[in-house]
Amino acid sequence: MTTIFLTLSLFFLSITRTLASYNIINYGAKPDGITDTAKPLLSAWAATCSSHQPASMYIPAGTFFVSTALFKGPCNNTNIRIFISGTLIAPSSYSATIQWLTFKYVQGVSILGGTIDGRGQAYWACKTSNRNCPSGAASIAIDESKDVLVSGLKSLNSEQFHMMIFSSQGITVQGAKISAPANSPNTDGIHIQMSSDVTITGSTIKTGDDCVSMGEGATNVWIEQVNCGPGHGISIGSLGETPNEMGVQNITVKNVIFTGTQNGVRIKTWGKPNTGFVKEVMFESLTMNNVQNPILVDQNYCPGNVDCPNKSSGIKISQVMYNNVQGSSATPVAVKFDCSPSNYCSGIGLQDIKLTYMNKPAQAYCKNAEGNASGYIVPPSCL
Ligand SMILES: *[C@@H]1O[C@H](CO)[C@@H](O)[C@H](O)[C@H]1NC(C)=O
Ligand SMILES: *[C@@H]1O[C@H](CO)[C@@H](O)[C@H](O)[C@H]1NC(C)=O
Ligand SMILES: *[C@@H]1O[C@H](CO)[C@@H](O)[C@H](O)[C@H]1NC(C)=O
Ligand SMILES: *[C@@H]1O[C@H](CO)[C@@H](O)[C@H](O)[C@H]1NC(C)=O
Repeated sequence: MTTIFLTLSLFFLSITRTLASYNIINYGAKPDGITDTAKPLLSAWAATCSSHQPASMYIPAGTFFVSTALFKGPCNNTNIRIFISGTLIAPSSYSATIQWLTFKYVQGVSILGGTIDGRGQAYWACKTSNRNCPSGAASIAIDESKDVLVSGLKSLNSEQFHMMIFSSQGITVQGAKISAPANSPNTDGIHIQMSSDVTITGSTIKTGDDCVSMGEGATNVWIEQVNCGPGHGISIGSLGETPNEMGVQNITVKNVIFTGTQNGVRIKTWGKPNTGFVKEVMFESLTMNNVQNPILVDQNYCPGNVDCPNKSSGIKISQVMYNNVQGSSATPVAVKFDCSPSNYCSGIGLQDIKLTYMNKPAQAYCKNAEGNASGYIVPPSCL
């Protein structure tokens, strides 16, 4: 922590000597946790964004209340750094806002450090009591943007997703610490959709839903060194709820530790016609600690089992490799491939799998799945 702080501070000092830097305090921000900082933030952003040279924006220590903020580009430079020492807090009551902090049409932006607190408690209470609630806000959204780095961000208690990456390319999230209670509804860690070249590394994600989820059009995604749990694991999907979805391709999930999660690595698709696909997926060196469904492909996904379409999934799953997956399952079936009767899963590869249930070999279940197993395989392959 101290090292990161020192590094950031030194970095900031060296930057401020040479580059334009805009401190939100100079635009009227008050670190009292009450006064709305939206205007000062956006004025400092406008100055940073209009600079024709690399520029930086500074949010000092303290607690800043922010109603909502849209950091919009395109900007006049592609080297913007936002240094955050303090904490940004969202309204404690919910509204119809669907994104709290949004970066849109930006390119070449680094967001360094900082804590953001979505204060989702009131919204979760609404959702869990089955009232008619608005859709809830993602805490931070990166929309239609390119080359964005989010480094060392701490995100707490989002209403909905903590981070949403949508229609963007070249997004890196490193050293994130994301947390919300295990029973908070739909507080996914990071959701990636219609985006390519997304990297998530060195992060800890504890949530009430997926640690990372990948929707349609997620391609060239690299996830490495993540601790996930509590939460619902790392998911591709759900896919196929809407017709004609874009495919998901070239996904790597490596060196991830799952602890007490509902799933480990899961691919979930609705049982409905579609033209989408999932291919070229590598799951490698994963540790499962008491995970309910360590390896799962579910092509009849239907949460809550209400109004299920009950059709054959049109999403074609192929070339999915599971290499070196070890640990403990919290249920007897640790490996489950429940694939589409009209689009068999094909080219599934299992290599060096060791999953136990209560210190005994777990079980594997296959339906409509084809592929190969090699190396040490426990439970024995059903492919
Ligand atoms: C970019 O620079 C021009 C000319 O200085 C200015 O008029 C414009 O507002 C700037 N654009 C942004 C997005 O700030
Ligand atoms: C797959 O994605 C990775 C980044 O995650 C990229 O480095 C690699 O070039 C991609 N492979 C192909 C074939 O596009
Ligand atoms: C889907 O199947 C479930 C369980 O088999 C059943 O209860 C439900 O009525 C079916 N839904 C439709 C739309 O047919
Ligand atoms: C098993 O692997 C071999 C060689 O990679 C491949 O030719 C074959 O199609 C695979 N079998 C299945 C059922 O996927």
